[in-house]
Amino acid sequence: MKILVTGGAGYIGSHTVVELLSAQYQVVVVDNLSNSSEKSLDRVAQITGKKVPFYKTDILDREGLNRIFEQEKPDAVIHFAGLKAVGESVQKPWEYYQNNIAGTLILVDVMRQHGVKNIIFSSSATVYGNPAVIPITEECPKGQCTNPYGWTKSMLEQILSDIWYADREWNVILLRYFNPIGAHKSGLIGENPNGIPNNLMPYITQVAVGKREELGVFGNDYDTPDGTGVRDYIHVVDLANGHVKALEKIKDNSGLKIYNLGTGKGYSVLDIVKNFEEATGVKIPYSIKPRRAGDIATCYSDASLAEKELGWTAQFGIKEMCEDSWRWQKNNPNGFED
Ligand code: NAD
Ligand code: WQD
Repeated sequence: MKILVTGGAGYIGSHTVVELLSAQYQVVVVDNLSNSSEKSLDRVAQITGKKVPFYKTDILDREGLNRIFEQEKPDAVIHFAGLKAVGESVQKPWEYYQNNIAGTLILVDVMRQHGVKNIIFSSSATVYGNPAVIPITEECPKGQCTNPYGWTKSMLEQILSDIWYADREWNVILLRYFNPIGAHKSGLIGENPNGIPNNLMPYITQVAVGKREELGVFGNDYDTPDGTGVRDYIHVVDLANGHVKALEKIKDNSGLKIYNLGTGKGYSVLDIVKNFEEATGVKIPYSIKPRRAGDIATCYSDASLAEKELGWTAQFGIKEMCEDSWRWQKNNPNGFED
């Protein structure tokens, strides 16, 4: 099977391309490189010994996509391409709705014109809003998102579901990721944020490598065991393998399916600091700051549906997540830049 991966030069995309190649899929990558470097794909080639065809194309470029579909004739699409910075989305809602929603509408239209009706979509635990139940099952009702980025995920889930309702030839798998961290064991690919990291683990690794002075912990007065926010961190390689399992499911004409991809375990901010220090021997200075707008106290998954229906469970624990994040950052203090 040939898989077209949008956003395949990015963090989760590049790790998924590695796992797809290892599972003997043919892979084609489309990315506009707005938040990534083509060098990630050179590193993928170094890891796997395989060079994937790469198109520097925007998913808003209908003609460009048409040509790629004509030439490559993919069987399925794994759709990672999108803007993902929560804070930026509050400042630039139009750009987020345009890129993520209009981009996906064009992609899906080109897919159906070429008779390609299999899609795996990167959704997020953010669609649950402040979750009604913990651990969060897929049955938990979707909630109020706190930012335009989150709404793009929630709306795209609805759009892709409606497309499936109208045309049952489609197979649509919505994967709701919890908090991906970690990196490939080789230390050759990993997360490479522009500017000040928004997310916890890249901030911690930048403190560890000396690029930032100290971590700000956003609030210690939540209703959690130590007062800091609790999340379900998942190793990016486990997440990548979840996509390989979802592709296997699609081969049975699975229709519309929704799965949480998480570990089912919650760690607080201070748990992560402690685990990082233990795993790497590097001290992380921190200070307590006010709560960050839009944050919730606790978010972790019930991951049993993916286990039951996809035969997938996370293999890596928090120690490996910390070790692997650190190996990537230490070996590449400036990401893919020289
Ligand atoms: P990323 O920014 O590293 O990857 C996204 C890729 O999409 C980038 O390479 C970017 O250049 C590309 N892209 C963006 N807009 C594009 C467009 N219009 N045309 C072509 N390419 C475009 O982010 P990531 O962390 O790898 O996330 C991948 C997907 O998973 C995103 O859809 C994201 O919203 C989703 N997601 C991420 C997280 C997370 O915490 N990282 C959690 C839940 C969901
Ligand atoms: C984790 C915890 C923070 C940074 C976000 C998006 C979500 C999804 C994953 C894409 C929280 C605390 C963080 C810092 C801190 N992304 N923190 N100091 O907010 O759970 O989820 O990324 O889909 O949509 O909202 O992840 O890594 O930002 O924060 O104390 O410098 O760490 O308050 O408790 P979050 P995060």
